Amino acid sequence: MHLFLVGAGPVGLVTAVGFARLGHHVTVADIDPSRVAALSAGRSPIFEPGLEEALRAEKAAGRLEFTGNPEPPTGAAFSIVCVGTPTDASGPLSTGQVEAVVAGLLACAPPEHVVAVRSTLPVEGPDRLAGLVAARRGRGPCATVVTNPEFMREGAGLRDFEVPSRVVAGWLSPEDREAAQAVADLYAPLNAPTLVADARSVALIKLASNVFLATKIAFANELARVCDAVGADVDLVTTGVGMDERIGRAFLSAGPGIGGSCLPEQALALPLLSSRLGVPTPLIDAVSRSNVSHQQAVVARLGALLGRPLGGARVALLGLAFKAGTDDVRESPALALARELRAAGASVVGFDPRAGEPARRADPLLELAAGPLEAAEGAAAVVVATEWAEFRALDWAALRTRMQGDLVYDTRNVVDRQAVRAAGLRLEVLGRRA
Ligand code: UDX
Repeated sequence: MHLFLVGAGPVGLVTAVGFARLGHHVTVADIDPSRVAALSAGRSPIFEPGLEEALRAEKAAGRLEFTGNPEPPTGAAFSIVCVGTPTDASGPLSTGQVEAVVAGLLACAPPEHVVAVRSTLPVEGPDRLAGLVAARRGRGPCATVVTNPEFMREGAGLRDFEVPSRVVAGWLSPEDREAAQAVADLYAPLNAPTLVADARSVALIKLASNVFLATKIAFANELARVCDAVGADVDLVTTGVGMDERIGRAFLSAGPGIGGSCLPEQALALPLLSSRLGVPTPLIDAVSRSNVSHQQAVVARLGALLGRPLGGARVALLGLAFKAGTDDVRESPALALARELRAAGASVVGFDPRAGEPARRADPLLELAAGPLEAAEGAAAVVVATEWAEFRALDWAALRTRMQGDLVYDTRNVVDRQAVRAAGLRLEVLGRRA
C-alpha cells in the first residue's frame, strides 16, 4: 500500500522505515529542504541505532522516498502525521504544527483518504482536530482524521516499532471508528495487542503511560537518596521490589534525573490539564517537582562528596545525551547538571560519544573534550551522567594520571567499580552507599 508520512524526525523516520519493511511504499515529506536532501542521499539527520542502514536498504528497494511536497501522492490511502508537539509559549504539547499539517492535508486529500495523527497530543488535541474537520466538511466531503500515538523509545525505536507493546488508534467521532480500525490494521502483521477507542481516551493512554513511567523513575530516584542516607543499595532494593510482577523492574533504575523530549514535558502537561479542569491531582503534580528536586540533590551530593566548595573546581562530565543510545540532549539531566555546577562556580568540561555537537548547540558555554582522558585533565571529579557502554570499561588508571582530584561520581551505576578502585580513585555511586 502507498503511505504518505509527514515529519522526518525521530518518530517519523522510524515509522517510515517500519512500514517500508512491512512492504509498503512510503513517501516521506519534510519542511526542511536540507533534511530532505540528506535523507535522499541516504544520510540520517538523527542518530538512532540501525536507522541509517535501514533507511538506505528500504530506499534502495524502492519502498522509501523523500520529498518537500506536503501533498499526499495520488494513490496514497493514508497520511501519517509525525510532526512535533513541542513546548512553546502556549505550554507543553503545543498542537500548532500538527494542526497546520492536518489542515493542509484536509485541503487537498480526497474524501476516501485517512489522516492518522501519530504525534503526541494533549487531551484537548482531538477536539482541535475535530474543529478542523468540521470546518473543512462545511465545504464538502473530506478525508477522515484519526489518531495513532506511538510508544517508541529513542535508542530503541526500530525495535519498539516492530515489537510494539500495543497498537492504539482513536476516532474523533463514532462514525470514524472504521477509519481508526483501518489504521490499527496497518500494524496487523506485528501481532500486537490492539485498542481502538475515542481519541480523548487514546490521548490519555499515551500521556498516562509516560507519566506513570516517569513516576516509576522518580520513585527509584527518591529511593536512591534514601539508600544513600541509610547505607542501603538502591540496585538491590529496586531489583527486589521489581521481582513482584505487579511492579516489574523496568524503569526503576536510579539516575541523574528524567530527560528526553517526552517524559518531562508530559509530566508537566498532565498536571496542567488537571489544574485547568479544576481536578486535584497531587500525585501526578508531584512527578515533575520530584524530578527537579532530584537533579538539584545530585548537584548538592556532588558538592558534599567533593568535600570542598564547588567554586573553582573543575568537573568532567562523561555523558551529555539524556540517555545512552541517542544523540538527543533535550531535557538532558547531564546538561542540567552542567548548568547547576557552573552556577555554583565550577568549571565544567563534557564528553559524549555521540551527543557532543548537539550538546554544544544546546549549551554554548559548555567546554567539550575529545575523549574521556581529555575531559579528566585537571578535574577534581569525574561524573558519569549517561550510561554509555564505553563508560563501563574506561582506563581509570590513565584517567587518574590526568585528574587533579580523586572522586568518581557514577550517577548511572555503570562503571566497573573494581577498576575504579584499583586505580586509586574514590568511587561514589548514586544510591549505592553500601
Ligand atoms: C519515552 C517512553 O519510554 C516511550 O514509551 C515514549 O514513546 C516516548 O518517551 P524516551 O523519551 O525515548 O521514551 O526515553 P526513556 O527511555 O523513557 O527515558 C526517559 C528518561 O528516563 C531518560 O533520561 C532515561 O535515562 C531515564 N530513565 C529511564 C531512568 O533514569 N531510569 C530508568 O529506569 C529508565
